[in-house]
Amino acid sequence: MRLRIPAVLIGLSTFMLATAVAAQLFEPLDLSGEEMFMRYCAACHGTDARGTGPVARTMNKRVPDLTQLMADPRDEFPAQAIRDAIDGRSMAISHGTRQMPVWGYEFWVEEGADVVAEQTAREMINRIVAYLESIQGANEPGLLELEEGPRF
Ligand code: HEC
Repeated sequence: MRLRIPAVLIGLSTFMLATAVAAQLFEPLDLSGEEMFMRYCAACHGTDARGTGPVARTMNKRVPDLTQLMADPRDEFPAQAIRDAIDGRSMAISHGTRQMPVWGYEFWVEEGADVVAEQTAREMINRIVAYLESIQGANEPGLLELEEGPRF
């Protein structure tokens, strides 16, 4: 007897196998802060972090320039406040107008929503924050006016 397996099934299972392998190979902690930024943040904030990514124009809020997080470049970088802003889980409900995803939650869910996932999510945010610190002042202030949104 000959088994006739439809080609589509073979195609589908090959695809599923390929994605399962890819999912195993992909570890977020293999990425640098810069690579994470390009993957998760650049759509809105732009690859240069100036707030002009392709998705920015679909938002009703101005997407902030992340190279200008400090009023005075000589100030100390407010790492904890930036971490909290990205994580979002500790933000009060009254900040309910938030348009940015709650990354602490997104990363935690993406990583399996357990204790290890929590550590991974925190480390991811730490790396992204270190990257943001490294690009402060990377462009001319005042070129893009920030209209609204919290400032630190
Ligand atoms: C869907 C679009 C979008 C994506 C994706 C996005 N952001 Fe945002 N981000 C915003 C908007 C809009 C604001 C302004 C505050 C608000 O309304 O949410 C903001 C605000 C911020 C702020 C606060 C800056 C300030 O001066 O107030 C930081 C820091 C920030 N984003 C970092 C990130 C990081 C890091 C990522 C990737 C992990 C990211 N954003 C991804 C849209 C986005």
